[in-house]
Amino acid sequence: MTTHNTILIPGDGIGPEVSAAVRKVLDAADAPLIFHEHRAGVAALDAGLDVLPDATVDAIRKHGLALKGPCTTPVGEGFTSVNVQLRQRLDLYAAVRPVRSLDGVKTRFDDVDLVIFRENTEGLYAGVENDIVPGVVTSMKIATEKASLRIARRCFAYTQQRGRSKVTVFHKANIMKKSDGLFLRCVKQVHEAEFPGVTYETRIIDAGCMKLVQDPTQFDVLLMENFYGDVVSDLAAGLVGGLGVVPGANLGEDCAVFEAVHGSAPDIAGQKKANPLALLMSAVMLLNHLHESRGCDASHDTAERIKHAYNRALHDGATTRDLGGDLNTDTFADAVIERLP
Ligand code: NAI
Repeated sequence: MTTHNTILIPGDGIGPEVSAAVRKVLDAADAPLIFHEHRAGVAALDAGLDVLPDATVDAIRKHGLALKGPCTTPVGEGFTSVNVQLRQRLDLYAAVRPVRSLDGVKTRFDDVDLVIFRENTEGLYAGVENDIVPGVVTSMKIATEKASLRIARRCFAYTQQRGRSKVTVFHKANIMKKSDGLFLRCVKQVHEAEFPGVTYETRIIDAGCMKLVQDPTQFDVLLMENFYGDVVSDLAAGLVGGLGVVPGANLGEDCAVFEAVHGSAPDIAGQKKANPLALLMSAVMLLNHLHESRGCDASHDTAERIKHAYNRALHDGATTRDLGGDLNTDTFADAVIERLP
């Protein structure tokens, strides 16, 4: 069986706990992956390394694949987010986040099926901030044609390939006429020139969010710039059971880094309360990516078996506390392993 070298960044906070649980499930399922562990963020600083060591970035570049736990970013001070840095350095320009209702997870809606496409390299997260004079700062929002066109292209291609029904862009081009205006123009250009068969609509983001919480079934694929994508991902997670159940992929042309939407959750770190499912689902996305990009049938088979097992666990009420159950990080992993076909 072909195996695939994969970088594992456990992260910090709940990261090491959920990463260990996910690794246990992957090992039990005989996933065709060989993990190489690397550090980033607080874990790297604690080991006396740079916050984002070159060795970590180079290893991902070499093997093209990583599974990543969350990394803390200090609020209002300190180092630049390693998550943002990693996406920029590896040019992981497309964040893809499927948000789906799960059998056994009771929420207001039982038929949510969304995919969020977030531009991952620029916007307000370009990190261009300046103190102009004491008491006055600016944060620059960067929008380029290059980044806007390629995220639009990737989003429409995904929508078409998966046979999904439509793309909705969330924007604020009524106020940010230049930056969001450019984003919107680029998406329209790609739609008209390359994907005229895909249904396409636009929503001003504030009204779009209202519609999203009122009836998420009216949306399918949501496309937006960096900051909006960050916020709307968490909002959408709230529609299907919270941050414990939403996975994600950060995709470039040569590299792919899979990570949950959630952060390091310092409020529950070290207590084994964290739900490892979002990272496990991210690992399933990684396995499916291997199937699609490298033709690895064993990856697809492992992904299907793990999906079957966690769906079964949820259906049987074997859940962590965030979903109303009484399992902890490790016992949930055991419950999934017990149900592997
Ligand atoms: P968070 O996502 O870490 O936590 C928000 C809330 O959701 C908390 O109450 C937490 O306990 C809960 N939660 C999150 N993941 C959970 C899980 N797997 N199981 C059960 N409950 C879970 O967001 P917060 O508190 O805003 O950020 C904490 C830190 O994480 C910050 O330093 C932030 O910058 C960083 N962060 C890192 C990300 C990454 O590495 N990709 C993404 C988002 C935030």
